[in-house]
Amino acid sequence: MLHRGSSDPTEVSPNSLVQQAHTALAAILREGDAVIDATVGNGHDTLFLAQQVGESGTVYGFDIQQQALDIAYARLQEAGLERRTSLYHAGHEAMAVVLPQSLAGRLKAVVFNLGYLPGGDKVRTTTIHTTLAALEQARELLAPGGGISVLAYTGHPGGREEAEAVKAWAHTLAPDYYKVQITIPPSQSGTAPEWLWIVRV
Ligand SMILES: C[S@@+](CC[C@H](N)C(=O)[O-])C[C@H]1O[C@@H](n2cnc3c(N)ncnc32)[C@H](O)[C@@H]1O
Repeated sequence: MLHRGSSDPTEVSPNSLVQQAHTALAAILREGDAVIDATVGNGHDTLFLAQQVGESGTVYGFDIQQQALDIAYARLQEAGLERRTSLYHAGHEAMAVVLPQSLAGRLKAVVFNLGYLPGGDKVRTTTIHTTLAALEQARELLAPGGGISVLAYTGHPGGREEAEAVKAWAHTLAPDYYKVQITIPPSQSGTAPEWLWIVRV
C-alpha cells in the first residue's frame, strides 16, 4: 500500500515519522521479544525498543561507529536498561553471521534509521549495498507477524538513491508473505524522509 501525502504543503518532520514507526512497533512488540536495532546511532530507537521488549527481551544493536555505541550505551545505562541490549560494533550486513542461529525466524522487529549519525561524521552514512544485504537478512530472520521498519532520509548525498533502492527491494517481496506500507509525506523540496513498514504475514 502506498500512502502519499495530501496537498498540505507542510512538510512532515522526521520526528513524526519516527513516532509513526514507534506506534507500529509498539503494536506488535511484547515482553520477552528479540529485536534488532540495525542502526544504533545515538540510541533513541535502541532505548525505545528496550522499553518495549521488557526485562526478559533483548535488543541486538549494530553500528559501525564506536562513538555511536558509546553514546547509546550511556543512554541505556541512564535508563537502567543496558542489560536488555547486546550492542555490536559491526555492520548490520553481518547480522546473520554475528547473531545466534537460534534467533532465525524468531525476531519480532528489525529497525533501520538510515543515513549518518546526527552530531557525527556526515560522510559515514549507510550505503545501498550494505543496507540491501542487511534487509535481505532481516527478512529471513523475521518471525511471522514481525515487522521491519526503515526510515530513509533523502536530503544527504546518496540518500535519495538509497531510499529508491530500498523501495525497489520492498516491491520485490512476495505480497502473500509480506505486507508493505510506504509512507511518503508531502515535500516541496523533495528531500523529506520516507518510511517503509514491512510485516511478515
Ligand atoms: C541516522 S543514524 C541512526 C539514529 C538512531 N536510530 C538513533 O535513534 O539515534 C544512522 C547510523 O547508522 C550507522 N551505520 C552506517 N552504516 C552502517 C552499517 N553498515 N551497519 C550498521 N550501522 C551503520 C551510522 O554510523 C549511524 O550511527
